Amino acid sequence: MKSRTIKKAVFPVGGLGTRFLPATKAIPKEMLPVVDKPLIQYAVEEAVAAGVDMLVFITGRNKTAITDHFDKAYELEHQLELKQKDAVLEVVRNIVPSHVDCIYIRQSEALGLGHAVLCAKKAIGDEPFAVLLADDLIDGKKAPCLAQMADQFNLTGESVIAVEQVSHEMTDQYGIVEVGDEGAQTSAIKSIIEKPSPDLAPSNLGVVGRYILTPEIFTLLEKTGRGSGGEIQLTDAISDLLQQQTVNAFQFEGVRYDCGSRAGFLKANIEYAAKDDELRQLIVSYASSLVEA
Ligand code: UTP
Repeated sequence: MKSRTIKKAVFPVGGLGTRFLPATKAIPKEMLPVVDKPLIQYAVEEAVAAGVDMLVFITGRNKTAITDHFDKAYELEHQLELKQKDAVLEVVRNIVPSHVDCIYIRQSEALGLGHAVLCAKKAIGDEPFAVLLADDLIDGKKAPCLAQMADQFNLTGESVIAVEQVSHEMTDQYGIVEVGDEGAQTSAIKSIIEKPSPDLAPSNLGVVGRYILTPEIFTLLEKTGRGSGGEIQLTDAISDLLQQQTVNAFQFEGVRYDCGSRAGFLKANIEYAAKDDELRQLIVSYASSLVEA
């Protein structure tokens, strides 16, 4: 058994977020909050819980909100101290633990997810790493999704890609994998295709926004041309990686909210509010009043 630990994680936050305009005109969609915490912070907390201590953000045109969020806010902290708002001061101070480093790399043009990951090449170097798409919010129930994946990765040192069953008519919104055993939690991927129409999809197993990849992916990304939607697709480079080494699909335990869509984002807000001690009663009674109206 190879023992490895994933220490670096890439957060591509350079997308245009067109489905959330106008909210995303001046801020990245990853800064949209679910209850009171931005999506990117949930993803960062998930990575840190899995043992990551270097966060590599691939930013786009509206990068300042994300860098500011993870930076120290002297003035705000000072004001909170003066007002003796100790609880909220703790929250603001502990957004990133002190042992964790943040690196920001600018993706000069939104050429696609594959291109965003390639921008992290120098920061990652020659080691396996995680990629987290913050607009997929995952409630891992027993353990955070990335920690589940890291446990699987540590068994073999092979790449791990999170997948889940998606409805057949929605295969054209996902990367879809063909695996040896669809019923198994972990199964080697035989093929992967970006956004196939339902009649061409090899299965209903859709890729969600969590990956653990070996560094060989970078050489392949350098050669990857524009694919689906005219973008440089990570899926296409993974398809090439499959020709060289085993890549495993992993069906994680937990619930994923597609916060890149309005419906998924609203669902996440309602469900996370219903889990909050202060908001739970309000949500339940308000929801029933809506039904009665
Ligand atoms: P999406 O396909 O959701 O695109 O990107 P998008 O631009 O963010 O959103 P819509 O579809 O226009 O509403 C998937 C992930 O890849 C990142 C996005 O930030 C998101 O996390 N991404 C995409 C980049 O970082 N750079 C890109 O060039 C494209």
